[in-house]
Amino acid sequence: MKKIALLSSGGDCPGMNAAIRAVVRTGLYYGLEVWGIEKGYTGLLEGKFLPMNLSSVGGIIQRGGTILKTSRSEKFKTKTGLEKALKILSNFKIDGLVTIGGDGTLRGACELSELGVKVIGIPATIDNDLFKTDMSIGVDTALNTVLTAIDKIKDTASSHQRAFVIEVMGRNSGYLSLISGIAGGVEEIIIPESSVNFQEMGIHLKKGYQRGKTHCIVIVAEGVDKTYEIANYLKDEIGFETRVTILGYLQRGGSPTVFDRLLGSRLGGAAVEHLLEGESSKMVGLIGNDIKATDLKIVLSKQKSLNKSIYDLAKILAR
Ligand code: F6P
Repeated sequence: MKKIALLSSGGDCPGMNAAIRAVVRTGLYYGLEVWGIEKGYTGLLEGKFLPMNLSSVGGIIQRGGTILKTSRSEKFKTKTGLEKALKILSNFKIDGLVTIGGDGTLRGACELSELGVKVIGIPATIDNDLFKTDMSIGVDTALNTVLTAIDKIKDTASSHQRAFVIEVMGRNSGYLSLISGIAGGVEEIIIPESSVNFQEMGIHLKKGYQRGKTHCIVIVAEGVDKTYEIANYLKDEIGFETRVTILGYLQRGGSPTVFDRLLGSRLGGAAVEHLLEGESSKMVGLIGNDIKATDLKIVLSKQKSLNKSIYDLAKILAR
């Protein structure tokens, strides 16, 4: 292995730059030539390769987003797209590829590996829905962003004795909602992994007010797709003065936490080492406190399931 390339793809997240920095610096440390590919798989199809050196990744560890830019490429997923990508990688004489991103990115990596490209994936998505890694890069920072928002909304909710419905990101996964909801001490957490019973929710929230609560905060994961329905129910059926806040894309930005900088650094270093050991078609992930590599096929075989005991605990605490 002499020449490696790396790209970030899909939704960006804080900590991607720490991983980019680690891939580049570890690669250079082992005497490899390292190339960055701009704009994810779109840039790969356009041959957007940038030579990387020690200083190209200087001063980036504290920055959110990705210095390599990102995209969601439909073209790459086609047979012609994949074949073109393969041709470009071989024209550039790339011996190994590191891809940083979520499930779509890993799926792309897996398909490239089936065509013979040596690829290692790094999990990076605020959704934390990837199997075989306890945490993906970006999750911890996003959680802290959501938590800051909950704390602030609580101040105004309490002053006005209002109900707030806060929509948190997560297409198919309620992880961000569940964990930030517990940490923020909210009254109700609604996630795609579990059904919602409006009546039960109403009774539960009313009881809180009867006990003297001055606010109520309901966290709803984006994937539930019922944010306004819930808010209207609270207003029209329960009689709460209700407001909605959709946190949206601010959850994807910001300076990464210590946890995400360290995770990005560890996973980036490990990805290069796995390539050097001749491995391919794997994702490096955090399992317990160790970095372990798992076959991409296994990683992609299912979505990570929610920890039931944490969900049950949330129900006990949200009163
Ligand atoms: O990256 C994950 C995520 O932020 C999801 O939580 C969200 O549903 C989705 O990406 C939004 O995607 P896009 O960036 O394409 O709007």
